[in-house]
Amino acid sequence: MVIVYRSDTGFTKAYAEMLGEGEHLEVFPLPGAVGKVGAGEPVFYMGPLMAGRITGLNQAVRSFNVMGACGVGMSPASPQVLEALSRVNAAPGASLFYLQGGWAPKKVGWLRRRMVAMATKSIREELLAKGGCRTPEEDRYLDFLLHGGSFVARENLERIRQWMAGR
Ligand SMILES: Cc1cc2nc3c(=O)[nH]c(=O)nc-3n(C[C@H](O)[C@H](O)[C@H](O)COP(=O)(O)O)c2cc1C
Repeated sequence: MVIVYRSDTGFTKAYAEMLGEGEHLEVFPLPGAVGKVGAGEPVFYMGPLMAGRITGLNQAVRSFNVMGACGVGMSPASPQVLEALSRVNAAPGASLFYLQGGWAPKKVGWLRRRMVAMATKSIREELLAKGGCRTPEEDRYLDFLLHGGSFVARENLERIRQWMAGR
């Protein structure tokens, strides 16, 4: 198996490289992977979530033998997030995963920043309204939504590594 990924602001790249290093797998960025990945070679595809979709997944499914795919987004991981991801993203026969990456507002253009600001408006307002009643996790998440940050962590890869070990 090899890892193929796409990443706009670096969080998916960080996970792909961490996973590749831990599992001793070759890692290829999607632009340029075609032609380098052997025909029929099983691929684990990773891409940033954009409006619920795993960026680059359709291209990866057309070009490679995708056995597993992972969306990297900004929301905390939960069964609901994975369920929503599985409803929208089609990769026949592939197992799907979700990882919380990060948010880098300074690395994206104003239109994308605005799209994210609109999508996260209600959660920001909800957290702001809690004022001093916010938990430390909620404080951290509010700061993350407002200013950006990273939740990339090696331990988040455990479920994917278990799946790889069991294949
Ligand atoms: C236009 C836009 C749409 C996004 N949509 C989602 C989304 O639907 N769900 C989510 O969890 N994160 C969403 N994000 C956040 C990114 O998925 C997140 O920042 C991810 O970690 C970026 O990965 P990258 O650094 O590899 O590009 C969106 C970001 C942008 C700019």
